[in-house]
Amino acid sequence: EKGGHDYFMLKEIEEQPEALRNTLRGHFARGGVVLDELRLAEQDLRDIDKVFVVACGTAYHSGLLAKYAIEHWCRIPVEVELASEFRYRDPVLGRDTLVVAISQSGETADTLEAVRHARTQHARVLAICNTNGAQIPRESDAVLYTHAGPEIGVAATKTFLAQIAANYLVGLALAQARGTKYSDEVAREFDELAAMPEAVRDTLSTVEQVRELGTEMATSKAVLFLGRHVGYPVALEGALKLKELAYMHAEGFAAGELKHGPIALIEQDLPVVVVMPSPTGRAQLHAKMVSNIREIQARGARTIVIAERGDEEVRPFADELITIPAVPTLLQPLVSTVPLQVMAAEIARARGYDVDKPRNLAKSVTVE
Ligand code: M6R
Repeated sequence: EKGGHDYFMLKEIEEQPEALRNTLRGHFARGGVVLDELRLAEQDLRDIDKVFVVACGTAYHSGLLAKYAIEHWCRIPVEVELASEFRYRDPVLGRDTLVVAISQSGETADTLEAVRHARTQHARVLAICNTNGAQIPRESDAVLYTHAGPEIGVAATKTFLAQIAANYLVGLALAQARGTKYSDEVAREFDELAAMPEAVRDTLSTVEQVRELGTEMATSKAVLFLGRHVGYPVALEGALKLKELAYMHAEGFAAGELKHGPIALIEQDLPVVVVMPSPTGRAQLHAKMVSNIREIQARGARTIVIAERGDEEVRPFADELITIPAVPTLLQPLVSTVPLQVMAAEIARARGYDVDKPRNLAKSVTVE
């Protein structure tokens, strides 16, 4: 049942191309993105002037990525908020606010309460959910299902990638309705998304390398993760996976924040995982990250670098280099997350922990 794997999580990591494909299936027709099940009229989408994304844990990290895509494509301000904080701070909501509640299980208590609060304020609520008929979609105005299939491991893997894809579909649908993108641009963005299952499959070729690396890292006391732009939520996700599975101190930082404090944590042999932007995407970001890596390497850190294949500039500063395929900037998280998932699982396995059922955690968190 684990498909010949030691634990479900590895099987689910390998199912990610399929999860993405199934989530995207049927959403491009008649020359545009179609979200028929959305139950929100085209006019409603056109009137949206503010988006809030509410979610917890890994789903929240997918929400952080939604902000980059939706603001860029739609020119609508997006705020991303932990569901457990949202309703306690009196957010400004109204009829033209779209609240996107992301939840794999559709049962997370904090996210459900955020949905209820948003509805009392007359906002329109869209659920992104992996579980048919769960409570959150039932109480929302609209739902977009991810089709990742059931996820057994407590750690979210394939549902995370599927959530990113669903968020981007919402972004494209909004851009289309509001006219901030021409239809040929929407078609191109969709094509790029549709090519991602193959890119994720390609990334799975790193699994063996990362499993070995994970075994080596099992004795480390802590691991830091650095990213910029869309690499930042990936760094947060890498750190969350490691805490959750390997019970290890792990923190994700925006690389630009290093010199505002975290660089003081760097000591000899501390593993620091760096998610590199593409050298051809946003050259400025790439150059800044290279200089961040040099700084931490000079202070003795062990640099573990996730970089695009062919990124020769970063190679001299990578104590361990994990390469991923070249993909458009906004889509890179779909591939750069994969090695981080494997790393966390393998460190946990090497430390003798139950990868699929980490201590103190439940798959769906139905208490606040
Ligand atoms: O079912 P949900 O997506 O609402 O769950 C949210 C979080 O509890 C969940 O993503 C959690 O952080 C994962 N176990 C992380 O791997």
